[in-house]
Amino acid sequence: KSIWVMNGPNLNLLGIREPGVYGSTSLQSIEEALVEEGERNSVSVTFFQSNHEGALIDRIHEAMGQADGILLNPGAFTHYSYAIRDAISSVSIPTVEVHLSNVHAREAFRHTSVIAPVCAGQICGFGAGSYKLGFHALLDILNGGIS
Ligand code: DQA
Repeated sequence: KSIWVMNGPNLNLLGIREPGVYGSTSLQSIEEALVEEGERNSVSVTFFQSNHEGALIDRIHEAMGQADGILLNPGAFTHYSYAIRDAISSVSIPTVEVHLSNVHAREAFRHTSVIAPVCAGQICGFGAGSYKLGFHALLDILNGGIS
């Protein structure tokens, strides 16, 4: 099985960016933890980060026929990118949306995700742990039940 992990804008600055909100863990550390999680579960894990909407859409298209599942933190695109939403619904690959912060406890504009309705589900509020939880949620889907 293959899981593609995709991160949107500003997430390259994790660890430096607003640590009070997003924690002090870098994206690289999160990716290393997911590689280990993948090894433990015999799943290959591939990473991509971009600050550009079109680049994320291209990557989602590339996932067709290659990825069994997508773990996606769309960053601020979560709240308004119909194009990323349409890309996810176009490729028919199970996708789990993750956020470090609890977006529902923050500014009103973060309460809406235009992408979550086309995902299997959304996990938010557990800091870097959201990725690990999201990874296991995706594994459960790929394994057809609780793993
Ligand atoms: C975020 C939440 C978004 O609202 C914000 O724009 C981000 C990060 C998170 O992981 O908590 O860039 O996706």
